[in-house]
Amino acid sequence: MRINISHRAKAIKPSPTLAVSALANEMKAKGEEIISFGAGEPDFNTPEHIKEEAKKAIDDNFTHYTKSAGIIELRKVISQKLLKENGLKCNPNDILVSPGAKASLMHVLMTICDPRDEVIIPSPYWVSYTSLVELYDAFPVMLPAKSSNNFKIRAEQLSEAINSLNNPKALILNSPNNPTGAVYSKKELEEIAEVCLEKNIIIISDEIYERLLYDNKEHISIASISKEVRENTILINGVSKAYAMTGWRLGYAAGPSDIIKCAVRIQSHTTSCVNSITQKAAVVALSQDEGSVEKMRKEFEKRRNYLVKALNDINNLSCFMPSGAFYAMPDISYFIQNSDEVNNSEELAKYLLKNYHVAVVPGTAFGAEGFVRFSYATSMDNIKKGLKLFKEGLRSLT
Ligand SMILES: Cc1ncc(COP(=O)(O)O)c(C=O)c1O
Repeated sequence: MRINISHRAKAIKPSPTLAVSALANEMKAKGEEIISFGAGEPDFNTPEHIKEEAKKAIDDNFTHYTKSAGIIELRKVISQKLLKENGLKCNPNDILVSPGAKASLMHVLMTICDPRDEVIIPSPYWVSYTSLVELYDAFPVMLPAKSSNNFKIRAEQLSEAINSLNNPKALILNSPNNPTGAVYSKKELEEIAEVCLEKNIIIISDEIYERLLYDNKEHISIASISKEVRENTILINGVSKAYAMTGWRLGYAAGPSDIIKCAVRIQSHTTSCVNSITQKAAVVALSQDEGSVEKMRKEFEKRRNYLVKALNDINNLSCFMPSGAFYAMPDISYFIQNSDEVNNSEELAKYLLKNYHVAVVPGTAFGAEGFVRFSYATSMDNIKKGLKLFKEGLRSLT
């Protein structure tokens, strides 16, 4: 029998990071030691008080399906958090709790995208945005967030891009950004929001890294700019990055009633609801901080300072100082241009892994050829050892 795979499935490209991570796994399986800067998750454990609540939920037999949108106790806590930390008034009924921010994003995109709609994605971008948009037969449109503008898009640039499109529908903004660590200021957000309002573009604001900010920077949610902007924005957030809860799978979307209602309806037919135990744990995570987030944030800041300075000390390499998240993205184009061994960032990453046992993510994964991404969600000891190998590897190329 011949099986015909759907055009959607065929359209989803294999992750450009796959070749590098497959090679890393192969080498590890042979017992070789690899220093990896690939992690997209905190290297800390979930704080004890959150784990305790999950254990209690199991003992209390809180182990059944919940409402699709999430338990009301959790949606109330999220609503309080949005008011207190982001200055956003949001009714708990306008919140969807999903298995990860990725699932929230998926259900929101499914709600708003029609075939051939265009969704603007500032580039460099998080890998899943483009694939999710394509899953719904919409088109991702990359808008360069240039290094000369600190990896941020400008409002005029956005306006021009929208004018050139056929069916512009939405903008996915991610601040703090993965992979660059760029953070938009209030003024920049105001200007972008103004363009979106004027041109009737829905804003999807992915704020998953909001708690990981450095140099005393403050997180501004674009939705908080005005009532009109809030009514035009879907905020995406979750507990994965701030509370070291990536494996628990809980994210949320908050936005206009009509959109959230539809997204909840869709979720009721896809994933049903978030694991009941995780929902109870998230209530505690979001309402009883106990200093664990700040402890992690401080450690990330220390590592960032060390890593970015050491990278900038390497001849012919420059690295933008990230203001948030836990990634640094140095420009390695000099080494590609001046080496006979490698022709692009993917080949460079493979070369470093094979010959120097250090794993970085090629920029191609994020639409940023000429760069590699370091995650500093790894110990200081690993950072020091890995940097030494990275430097030796680069030196051997030229
Ligand atoms: C920018 C961005 N948004 C969303 C997510 C997904 O987070 P979650 O674990 O909640 O699905 C990630 C995870 O890497 C991310 O980097």
